[in-house]
Amino acid sequence: MPTTSAPRADLLRFVTCGSVDDGKSTLIGRLLCDAGLIPKDELARLSPRAQQSSGGHEVDYSLLLDGLQAEREQHITIDVAYRYFSTDRRRFIVADAPGHEQYTRNMATGASASDAAVVLVDAREGLLVQTLRHSHIASLFGIRHVVLAVNKMDLVDYSEDRFEETANGYRAAVERLGFASIDCIPVSASHGHNVARTTDAMPWYEGPALLPCLEGLAVSSALAASAFRFPVQWVNRPHADFRGYCGTVASGMVRPGDEVVVSPSGDLNRVSRIVTMDGEQDLAVAGDAVTLLLDEETDVSRGHVIGSADSPPEVSDQFRATLLWMDAEPMLPGRAYEIKIGTQSTIASISDLRYVLDVSLLERRAAKVLELNGIGVCNLALNQAVAYDSRQADGASGSRYLLIDRYSKRTVGAGTIDYGLSRALNLAPQNLQVDKAARAALKNQRPCVIWFTGLSGAGKSTIADLTEKKLHAVGLHTHVLDGDNVRAGLGRDLGFTDADRVENIRRISEVAGLFVEAGLIVLVAVISPFRGEREMARAVVDEQEFLEIFVDTPVSVCESRDPKGLYRKARRGQLSNFTGIDSPYEPPEEPELRIDTTKISAEEAADQVVQLLRTRGNV
Ligand code: ADX
Repeated sequence: MPTTSAPRADLLRFVTCGSVDDGKSTLIGRLLCDAGLIPKDELARLSPRAQQSSGGHEVDYSLLLDGLQAEREQHITIDVAYRYFSTDRRRFIVADAPGHEQYTRNMATGASASDAAVVLVDAREGLLVQTLRHSHIASLFGIRHVVLAVNKMDLVDYSEDRFEETANGYRAAVERLGFASIDCIPVSASHGHNVARTTDAMPWYEGPALLPCLEGLAVSSALAASAFRFPVQWVNRPHADFRGYCGTVASGMVRPGDEVVVSPSGDLNRVSRIVTMDGEQDLAVAGDAVTLLLDEETDVSRGHVIGSADSPPEVSDQFRATLLWMDAEPMLPGRAYEIKIGTQSTIASISDLRYVLDVSLLERRAAKVLELNGIGVCNLALNQAVAYDSRQADGASGSRYLLIDRYSKRTVGAGTIDYGLSRALNLAPQNLQVDKAARAALKNQRPCVIWFTGLSGAGKSTIADLTEKKLHAVGLHTHVLDGDNVRAGLGRDLGFTDADRVENIRRISEVAGLFVEAGLIVLVAVISPFRGEREMARAVVDEQEFLEIFVDTPVSVCESRDPKGLYRKARRGQLSNFTGIDSPYEPPEEPELRIDTTKISAEEAADQVVQLLRTRGNV
């Protein structure tokens, strides 16, 4: 018989947010200490050190936290320490985001794994732009509960007016962020007032101290009340008779017999059993790591989401989303990034940056790129449809996602989905009866893209032109997309900033892909300075259909040739963002062919390209 599991000790994950001197470490140190969670010997260890640093009067609680830093866990490339503690009423995980420079990034990571945020302000300073920023980031990462700790009350003579002013100002400022609860507490972390328990210092304050407040936050019940979502982590198939889907319930609850839908396929099914390490259960709720078995044999794999059939997740491949950018290299619309939504992973690009929020997050402004720590609202286009939840009418955030640089594997952005774009939902690809193979067969050739990359003046256009002539002469159907020519029409609105170049290459890749569909051999001659976009161009067609030709001419040689006089202009400062001068060029690492134009003529280079096509069977 399945047994009902005992109710789990309720868990609260929270993140602390504050500026450098707000006393974050002191507050957490004091919290652990006053709750009796720090062994006596640990406390004794702190006192002598504290005597040096604080004149011998008090224990320096921030040292306590430093002492615990050794427990720090590495979280991908981001440095966040997770600390575990529990009281009689609740278990806690506090995400501590250290470091000043990367603070926003660390805080965002901490927030993405939290249910609540403790936002610290210094009572003397009141609200700062940072305070609103951190609150916005918290809301962006799905946090519904905030506690504003107005710290250092001892330094403002425990002034009720000062506290009220700060608390009211805060409530008004974050109103539109839609938090489910906002608790404001006057504290003095260094004296321990209102941290673990209330004290006489502020008799005018009638609310709870910080710890009881955190113990009382109704977080998991809200999570359990929302629709059932189970992102599949892996499929356990030890033998033919057992097929279980393993993962952690992200929200809601499930029982055997419940009707569920598998996304993105949309297949309906029913849960037959819930299996755990401790045997079978008749209930699993948000936070439980379980294995689900389904009634019907169906196609479920890692990355799929099993959800409630009554309120299933939505499915789309295009979204309006809020995005926090966390990388020193700016976000470029059109560039392909890896996206992770729960256990789902695919490629995404920002198809449109709608607007950027200014530092105080109160105003929107237009921008082409998103810089480090910038928050913007954008459209995301994914390579495949995924299951997600939109932002809810009650303010609950939509699905969280991470963007990862495909080369460095750094987490570069993160945010939440606002809603799916109906343009994507209402498109149904038409299957055409005459396809690429049929078109190519008529021309008696194998279509492909021959992509020439290199500096301006390297010889790309000349070699492409000669290659086309040779192919044309043997009866092949070709077309050339040359940078300067395409920019006169399709790319007329684009300049030479990184963002515009990314968009230029995106458009040209798509057009090259269409020409390949038409059965043509397409020669592309564009600088295409970034590796990422050349990889994107490669991904538009089939693997064997893309040939990258590196026209390798050193900048000094290009400059001495200077066929268009552009290097001279760039050197005189009359032309900015010029490739090789004040704009980067990333040479290909493994091109299909490298041409050293200082050693061979353009004619010989074209012969080499034709020869390459021959060996690959295109010609
Ligand atoms: S790309 O970087 O977006 O791939 P593309 O190949 O289309 O560039 O266009 C490059 C051509 O534009 C050069 O051959 C040159 O004639 C012209 N050009 C004008 N300004 C610049 C610039 N700042 N950098 C590079 N090329 C420029």
